[in-house]
Amino acid sequence: MAFVPKIEALICTYCTYTAADMAGAARMQYPATVRIVKYLCTGRIDILHILKAFEAGADAVMVSGCEVGDCHFLEGNLRAQERVEYTKHLLDEIGIGGERLEMFHIGASDAPQWAEAVRQMTERVQALGPNPLTVKRHSEVQVEEKS
Ligand code: FES
Repeated sequence: MAFVPKIEALICTYCTYTAADMAGAARMQYPATVRIVKYLCTGRIDILHILKAFEAGADAVMVSGCEVGDCHFLEGNLRAQERVEYTKHLLDEIGIGGERLEMFHIGASDAPQWAEAVRQMTERVQALGPNPLTVKRHSEVQVEEKS
């Protein structure tokens, strides 16, 4: 069976969510691989939220907030960018891979940019394959079923 990536998108309600909503309303074509979780601001997204998404089986996580200089809470998106960069290192160290996580800055009127970001992440994850944690869990279940 073909691998269909599961991508969790942690996004800001002011900018990226509006762009995603517009993309849907305009019936823009992009892969149905993404599950959206809305935050008031990406500055509220904690490293643990990202790690929990991977633990729950996401093959990739997108964090997307307002464009630089446009955050409604001044520097929330810059703090999110720092956390994403730090979390990429953690993901490399624990064997999941930092390339499965990416930060985007997508303004409210940038619906095409949202569609393109989802396409990009989907292609990236298709090349990387499933989340190593879920692969490990499946192989453990299969060993248990055999014994
Ligand atoms: Fe959108 Fe802060 S309000 S990232």
